[in-house]
Amino acid sequence: MALLAPSLLSADFVRLAEDIARVEAAGADWLHLDIMDGHFVPNLTFGPPIVAAIRKISKLPLDVHLMVTNPAALVEQFAEAGADYLTVHVETEPHLHRLVNRIRELGVKPAVTLNPATSVDLLDEILDEVDMVLVMSVNPGFGGQKFIPASLDKIRRLRQKLKRLDRQVLIEVDGGVNQATAPQLIEAGVDVLVAGSAVFGSDDMKMTIAALKQAH
Ligand code: DX5
Ligand code: ZN
Repeated sequence: MALLAPSLLSADFVRLAEDIARVEAAGADWLHLDIMDGHFVPNLTFGPPIVAAIRKISKLPLDVHLMVTNPAALVEQFAEAGADYLTVHVETEPHLHRLVNRIRELGVKPAVTLNPATSVDLLDEILDEVDMVLVMSVNPGFGGQKFIPASLDKIRRLRQKLKRLDRQVLIEVDGGVNQATAPQLIEAGVDVLVAGSAVFGSDDMKMTIAALKQAH
């Protein structure tokens, strides 16, 4: 059984509070918040004020995915806004060890993520410093894209690497997660599924979330 984090990118932004209440009632475990800067990825979303507003209306853990060119300049603001997890892309930060430890000092759980074309081997020296690794199974920037099948093997290889550690590091996956891909992802060793269009596009959110979480 995996945890399920609906991505609010697919929510109705003028009815955000209602949509958050709906996913909470339907069994969401976390809320996944996609922060895009129009530079690292070709899309723009929202920043710390919206995260702080969401923090006020939900008790669910806030899983903040930073798709920005300069994450080090922003982690403090997102920590103050109430992020529980802060995920940075390895492609954006040459001093990843410093940034991950800064996030932890700020009282937030640090996580790292990588684009589909980035090797999971790049994480070897940082795995012992993070609480979660997010494997991107689409090229980041947009909801509703098709799952990249090679992500499954990447997740399996990451699961093998994590076996060597004596502490728990969660594996999360983001992009193209639906009722067809979720069973394979759970089988490959995923702990947390992010799903945007599959959840918000569903007529029966409760059933969809239950199916995604238990799918195997
Ligand atoms: C993509 C974002 C995802 C996105 C997933 O760049 O990081 O969180 O919302 O959307 P779906 O689940 O529709 O692929
Ligand atoms: Zn995301």
